[in-house]
Amino acid sequence: MANIKFLSTPAVPLEMHKVRIVQKLTLIDPPARLKAMEKAGFNTFLLSNADVFLDMLTDSGVNAMSDNQLAAMMVADDSYAGSMTFTRLENKLKELFKMPFFLPVHQGRAAESILAMTFVKEGNVIPMNYHFTTAKAHITRMGGSVEEIVIDEGLKTTSTFPFKGNLDLDKLDHLIKTVGTAMIPFVRLEAGTNLIGGQPMSLENILAVSKLCRKHRIMTVMDASLLQDNLFFIKSREKAASNLSIREITARIADSMDIIYFSARKLGFAKGGGIILKDKAAFEKMRALIPLYEGFLTYGGMSVREMEALTVGLEETMDEDIISQGPQFIAHMVDRFMEAGIPVVTPAGGLGCHLDAKAFLSHLDQTQYPAGALAAALYLVGGIRGMERGTLSEQRNPDGTEPLAHMELLRLAVPRRVFTLSQLDFVIDRVIWLFQHRELVGGLTWEEEPEILRFFFGKLKPTTQRPKALIKAFQKDAGTSH
Ligand code: F0G
Repeated sequence: MANIKFLSTPAVPLEMHKVRIVQKLTLIDPPARLKAMEKAGFNTFLLSNADVFLDMLTDSGVNAMSDNQLAAMMVADDSYAGSMTFTRLENKLKELFKMPFFLPVHQGRAAESILAMTFVKEGNVIPMNYHFTTAKAHITRMGGSVEEIVIDEGLKTTSTFPFKGNLDLDKLDHLIKTVGTAMIPFVRLEAGTNLIGGQPMSLENILAVSKLCRKHRIMTVMDASLLQDNLFFIKSREKAASNLSIREITARIADSMDIIYFSARKLGFAKGGGIILKDKAAFEKMRALIPLYEGFLTYGGMSVREMEALTVGLEETMDEDIISQGPQFIAHMVDRFMEAGIPVVTPAGGLGCHLDAKAFLSHLDQTQYPAGALAAALYLVGGIRGMERGTLSEQRNPDGTEPLAHMELLRLAVPRRVFTLSQLDFVIDRVIWLFQHRELVGGLTWEEEPEILRFFFGKLKPTTQRPKALIKAFQKDAGTSH
């Protein structure tokens, strides 16, 4: 890990890479930002990236590649069948995860679709620490349902517990007893649990879940899309694992699972995805679906260049200097926010920094979508694009009522190796200003609400939000600058 001491100033996280390719950014002025936000219906998904200064929407598919990844892309073998590129990727996965079978897919949700089509039947129950949107959608599409059994601590926004993504073993035991093993095709474990703030699972918990499932002959499936951050957290927060290398931790996790799937848009600094597994019969069942939905078995919808980049990226994931960067940068943001009294999910997780919008905008009712309102306001004052992870991201019940999310979070994703520390300090500065003027941030209501995936395409409008007043106050403080 990069743990280099600063002698004259408090330590700050240090980039263990140099930047050799750059992309120009622009910061349009506040009135132009207001126009862009109005055009986007106060939905940050609908902003054009040309109008965005720092894009913190997601860490998916936007991580920076290394020189070695780019070099590997130049020697890709694009044969349709039997490509050497595929063999290289397959061998790397076998080396790291020690599982004999690999199915390539075009991205993470395709793996979820294939798993659900193969294993989920009407009435099945899938226990998991916490759902991810696409994983849940594929399970429910097949007639199954999701049981979220993350430990209670996982749903508290502030905590000092280092592994808030842990699955509650007592709840799992109880569920198995009440539902019966026949109705549980698999238990899903999500490493680096996305929707509760990128919170990790401990190695101890992963192994214990595996043990319980093996006792009951229930299959274990890990979503390893955010495994990279989780590996670092195990190494740095779990005493019993501190002497293990990242490679050893990876192997122990894989040894305890039956199936691992991942989005390579997150894991491996690349694009694409895959399913790796131990059982030949399960492999053969799923294999038939790959050419139907993804592409031939030796590319699965990925370009060969992506696959070469992924092979190298997976190896880089074993390097502590590399994988410590994201969590350290995120912890830097969380620490500064805590110093300023700003409500933020603690402890710092992977993937991004998550502001607690319910507490940040405590004057708003949850039906006014505080996380969406905060996302819109932060864009207005900083050209920063975050992502609402709250009630807007939920789907209405069949009777039209609206489930209120467990948490109202504004996610500020930190794509890996992309932002500099000064850019993150700019974000911190703008969030602090916004917190000091939070009474100017009002709520939102729907203008156009699509039936499905409303958070992607829907348009909103201010209710009590007075974006012009916010911009005016900001410009007064910022002078004529941006
Ligand atoms: N699982 C997890 C934990 C994810 O975070 C994602 C994607 C997926 C599965 C689906 O993978 O996008 O390659 O199809 N998360 C993105 C995000 C979309 O912004 O958090 P995908």
